[in-house]
Amino acid sequence: MRPKPPPGTILGRLEDLPDPGARASDWEGGAVVLIRRGETVTAFTNLCPHAGLPLCLPDGRGLLHKGETLVCPVHGASFDVTSGDCTGGPAAGDHLTAIPVEQVGPEIRAL
Ligand code: FES
Repeated sequence: MRPKPPPGTILGRLEDLPDPGARASDWEGGAVVLIRRGETVTAFTNLCPHAGLPLCLPDGRGLLHKGETLVCPVHGASFDVTSGDCTGGPAAGDHLTAIPVEQVGPEIRAL
């Protein structure tokens, strides 16, 4: 079980995220995965619901397909980056846990 960040927690900075791309948060050793598309950032608990393993690689990178789908590196489940719903693979019918965020200047913070 990954912790949820308290409101106001700084999870990362927009300029540190690839565009489009996904990266583990600075907070709690990467407990949250941040997904950037342009100026829009969505966030989810960095845990795949299939086997409870991290969605990001050990170096913090997340695998984004066509800027729309986050792909789990372990068994290949795919998740819609807006809703967190599983769109294919072994986590079918499941979804990611959304973390509401806001941008405050260059910072991405939990709501
Ligand atoms: S742990 Fe993610 S697809 Fe199996």
